[in-house]
Formats: sequence, structure tokens, C-alpha cells
Amino acid sequence: MPRSQLIEMTRSLIEYGRKDSMELADEVVRIPASSYTDPEIFEREKKQIFRRLPLMVAPSCELPNPGDYKAMDICGVPLLLTRQKDGTVAAMLNMCSHRGNPIASGTGNASRFTCGYHGWTFKNDGALIGVASPQDFGAIDKAAHCLTHFPVYEKAGLIWVTLDPNSKLDIADYLCGYDDLLEAFGFESWHLFSQRTLSGPNWKTAYDGYLDFYHLPVLHANTFGADFYNRANYFAFGPHQRLSTPSQFAIKVSGEDDMKIDLTEVADEDLSYEVLVQGVWTIFPHISIASFYGGGLRGAMISQLFPGDTVGESYTTQFYVMEHEPDDEEKIKAAHEQFDFLEIVVRDEDYKTGKRQHEALQSGLLKEVLFGRNERGGQVFHQWVEKLANASDAELVDIFAQESIPEAAE
Ligand code: FES
Ligand SMILES: [Fe+2]
Repeated sequence: MPRSQLIEMTRSLIEYGRKDSMELADEVVRIPASSYTDPEIFEREKKQIFRRLPLMVAPSCELPNPGDYKAMDICGVPLLLTRQKDGTVAAMLNMCSHRGNPIASGTGNASRFTCGYHGWTFKNDGALIGVASPQDFGAIDKAAHCLTHFPVYEKAGLIWVTLDPNSKLDIADYLCGYDDLLEAFGFESWHLFSQRTLSGPNWKTAYDGYLDFYHLPVLHANTFGADFYNRANYFAFGPHQRLSTPSQFAIKVSGEDDMKIDLTEVADEDLSYEVLVQGVWTIFPHISIASFYGGGLRGAMISQLFPGDTVGESYTTQFYVMEHEPDDEEKIKAAHEQFDFLEIVVRDEDYKTGKRQHEALQSGLLKEVLFGRNERGGQVFHQWVEKLANASDAELVDIFAQESIPEAAE
């Protein structure tokens, strides 16, 4: 049961906090600096990681209604997501079967799409329903010229797609049970409040920043980090990792004053949602989720990171999702302030630093970078990137078939 699993994690965090300690990795790990700067490694990662593994392409609330669609371009693959009449999501190659022109762009609501080149028409489930001037074009089997479908999986209010139409990797296997835990957020019924896209450094440099708390009181000293702990414990589900502060206490925001609660005195059944999902939830290879309470309303920032055109570039879409849509001006203003604050932190602190770090690494004069015993998230992330970028398609399936075997009942 996910709640019992969350409680178990929380009790472990409380215990480490009570002892003023954290779980440490076995050793300091060294990563070649070239893994951030080598264009060949970067191209291999785009091909082997982003074009082969399930990616979380959209929160469900971005496509809430039948007919809603979104077109995206991910590492050179044009993707079209549509919400079907029956409520399921279709993920298709956004290329007309006539000569390859993308049939949709941006977002909107449509039950059919007409290609802007010669006017062929497709239903939003990908069926080809109209060939322009069919009497002149010549006979073709329409059923054989539908849009190509990608494997898709929707769970916990999130949508995953594998950009390989022939993938044999089961998306649920890939998630290693982590999707069951993500359901604790309840995103299925949440709302998309706002979104924006930021440019960042090399995708791994950017992602490293989501995987450690070590930097919080230093890099973010002037924004939110001054009083923050720099310790995180890591819970791994295959390559997916949740990181949380080991702490005996929780801060409850109530009215004007913050209340400090001693969690050792709280019974399991009274542990709140806020306490149970505390920290940052990353989804390999490119998502980070954290909770916020702008204006007193429950919200979460879902950051979705993709490699850019060159090894030193990435882009991140920040989705600010909220449990309830703010319904008065004051709450709307507070939610915007929360979201804008997060943009400033990521753009002017994390990514600005990442870009400088990347430029410096490009000099080639530092051979290795280090991940300490307190930075297990980064260690595990880089190990998985290496392992998956080098695995064959068949090995990939085996790796996750093994990972998804549930642990024996206690
Ligand atoms: S490319 Fe779409 S109708 Fe010709
Ligand atoms: Fe940061």
C-alpha cells in the first residue's frame, strides 16, 4: 500500500533526523568532466535515453478535456498528444503520412487535423479520414496511412510516452512501482495554473541541481536557502529517486505563525499529506516535482527538462499545478508570486551557475567532478545514465523486468 510505504519512508527520515544524521553513500564518486561536454556522449544520450525511454511529457491537467491536444518536439521527434473521446490519451508521430509535414502545432482543442501542406485530414486518434482530391491522387489504403502511434501510459495524473514506436519496454515496468507512490499527490484532479519554459545548461548539469540539497544553503542563501538543511536521504525505485530532508520536525504553516511539530509524537494515521510527500520527487531522466503553498493553496512545481540543440543547452518547462484553482484575486496573485519566485531561483541561481560551470568545464582542464557520500542522488543518476545509454534494446527490457519485481512481503 502506498500510504504505508510513505509512512515507512517518513519514519526513517524522522529517525535519521532525531539522530542528527543522514544516510551516506559508500564512497565519493568521480565522473569524467567530459560526460558533460563531449558532443558525442550528448548525441548518444539523446538517442539512447530520450528517444528510447519513457518520458513524462505532460501532466494530465494540461489535456483535461476530450479533443485537447499538444504538439511538442523532443530531441528532433515531433510528438502529438491528444485526449480522446473516451478519456484516454493518444501519443502519435506528428507527421502527415503524405509527405511528413507536422499536422498540428502548439496546443488547442480539435477533433480532427487538416495538414497545412496539401490538405489531408486526420481524426484526433490518428485515423486518416480524408485525402485531398482523391480522384486525382490515386488509390491508397487509408487504414494503412494513419499516424504512427507511440506507447503511452497515464497514471498518477501524469502522461508518459516512449518515442520509439517499436519499443518493447513496458512503461509500468520502467517506473518500478514509483507511479503508485506518485498517486499520493492526487494530480489526477489538479489544475494547471501556469507554465513557462526556461533555457538552461547541459541537461545533466541542470538535472544535478534537482538531485542535491547540499547546495541549498549556499547557492540559494539570498532567496530561500539560508535556513535550509543541506542533507537529503534518497529513496530509489530503479532510476527514479525521491529526496527528502531527514528531520524530526515539520513546519506547519498556520495563519500568521509557523508551528514546529515534533513528528515523533504524531501517530502514523495523523501524518499529513504534506509530511508524507515532503522533498523532491525526481522521475528519471528529466522530471522533478516539489510541493509549494503559494497563498496558502496546495500546489506543485513540475519541472520537465530536455536536452537542447547542443551539448551545452537544455530547456525546462515549469508547470505550476494546483489542487484547487485559486478563485479570488488575492489567491491568484499569491500563486503567481510563488511561481515567479521559483522562476527567479531556477533561472538566476541554478541555471546561471550551471551555465558558468559548463563554460568552465569546456576548457577541458578539470578531468573529473566529484559526488560526495552526501550526494547519492547525483551518483545514482550518473550511474543509470551510463548503464542505460550503453544498454542494447533487449538489455533495456531485461533491466526493468528485474527492477520491477516486487520485493518479497515482510
Ligand atoms: S504533407 Fe500533408 S497533405 Fe501533403
Ligand atoms: Fe537549486
